[in-house]
This record gives sequence, C-alpha cells and structure tokens, in this order.
Amino acid sequence: MSEQAGAANRPDIPGILEAAQNLADRVRAAADRSGYQEKGILNSEILFMLACVAALKPARIVESGRARGQSTALLALLFPDREVISFELHKGTPDDEIATRRLSEFRNVRLMYGDSLNLLPPIVRAGDVLLVDGPKGSLGIELCLRVCAAVSPLMVFMHDSHHGQLERQFAETFWPHPVFSDDPRFVTAFEALDRPCWELIASSPDRQWQAPYTRDGLRQLSYGPTMACLPAPKRRDAKWMLRELRRLKKRYPRWRH
Ligand SMILES: C[S@@+](CC[C@H](N)C(=O)[O-])C[C@H]1O[C@@H](n2cnc3c(N)ncnc32)[C@H](O)[C@@H]1O
Repeated sequence: MSEQAGAANRPDIPGILEAAQNLADRVRAAADRSGYQEKGILNSEILFMLACVAALKPARIVESGRARGQSTALLALLFPDREVISFELHKGTPDDEIATRRLSEFRNVRLMYGDSLNLLPPIVRAGDVLLVDGPKGSLGIELCLRVCAAVSPLMVFMHDSHHGQLERQFAETFWPHPVFSDDPRFVTAFEALDRPCWELIASSPDRQWQAPYTRDGLRQLSYGPTMACLPAPKRRDAKWMLRELRRLKKRYPRWRH
C-alpha cells in the first residue's frame, strides 16, 4: 500500500476538517431533504463519517441499527451510487414502519432484519464501510471486532462513542488510530449543522434528556452521542482485541449494554 493510501485509511482531524469544509453543503442539502427523526445520528456526525472516507472509494455501506432510518436515509442520499445495506433487529415495530415508509423512495437501500452480531460478519466484504449504531455497549464494539476478525473492511464507524463509555475507553486503549467526532475543533466548525436535530430533540417528550454536552439530563464532556472512526485493524490484531474484550467483559460483568 502506498504512503498516500495508508494516510487515507487513517484519517486525522486536520484532514477531516479540510474534507468536511468541502462536504458540508452536501450534508446540509441531504439533511434538509430527509428531515430529522428521533434516535437518529446528528448531521455533523454523518458529515464526520463522510469526511473520513472522502479519499476512499467504498464498495458498499453496511449499517447495523436502523430504528427510524435517519442514518440510512442520509447514507442513501450521500452515497447515491453505492448500495446501502441496513440491518435492524426488530421487524414490524412503529420505528420499523416509519423507516420502511421513508426509505421506500431509495433504490440503493436494502432493508434486512435480524441480529447483526451473527448476520453481519459473513456479509461485510473488504472495501465496504461499516456503521454500527446498535447493538450498543460492549456488544457494539464486539460486532465491530467480529467483522474485522473476519474481513478487513475499508473503515468502521461506531456511534454512541462519547466520553464515559467503556467502549470509548476500550477503543482509545486498544484500537489503532481511532478518531472521534466530539473533537472540539470539529464540533466548533460544524455544530451549526445540528440545529434542526437539537430543536426536534428538545420538543420530544421522550428525548429531552439529550442536548449539547448533556446526556440523561447531566452535563457530559462530549458534545453529542459521538461517532467513532475506527480504521480497520489487521485481522490478527482484531482477533487479539476480541480476546481482550471478552476477557474484560468477564471481569466487568456489568459492562453489557
Ligand atoms: C439508536 S437506534 C439506530 C438509529 C439509526 N442509526 C438512526 O440514525 O436513525 C439503534 C437500533 O439498533 C437496533 N439494534 C440493537 N441491537 C441490534 C442487533 N443486534 N442487530 C441489529 N440491530 C440492532 C435497535 O433495535 C435500534 O433500532
């Protein structure tokens, strides 16, 4: 792999900021078109993801955890010539009905059902980008690692990676070169994109516990739920991390979700 390709596979904040400046208008237009749905990722977080892969050519986008399809709709709009394969555990729920309705217009979206922990590892291919936004907690990072132990995807993203999460600590300790969307330089530059998201969240009786720098009604260090960009490790390193994760989970049985 050339030095340049190596750098593209290992984004850093200065490079992400530069790429994001050029992509912000596209994300704003996609967000205006899709609108915002509860439980969804923030507009700045999808911009972060797009900027991280800007220098790469993903073959497909594979998503785990769809809920009402906010991330799915944005991915479909922002990668119009790529297939977006989206997995959700629960079929026929009110969230699933909303997602199915709003995603029916996209020809590049494939809706799948079932437990990603078992279904995803054999489906993801080298060259795919993976977004994990459910399962959460230790199972979320376990899914990222199971995939990376089976194949080396182009890039892995894990949502809900804010400070204070054990999986954030795990990623910062073990994962090679992680980058996070709550970096203050990124937040300062792009938080304005999230105004419509925060407005809807503030008006929702179910989600008012969440606001900038606030979670469960308490102040938090991170700006928001936070997207982690986890460059795919070598498969043998992913297998080693998986063993470490399972060892830690035995030691800390409360670290489940
Ligand atoms: C926070 S929501 C996803 C939000 C969505 N990505 C968005 O931006 O709108 C998490 C979703 O993950 C789903 N989920 C949890 N565990 C899962 C699993 N093992 N496999 C597939 N989906 C799962 C949940 O049912 C829930 O709908």
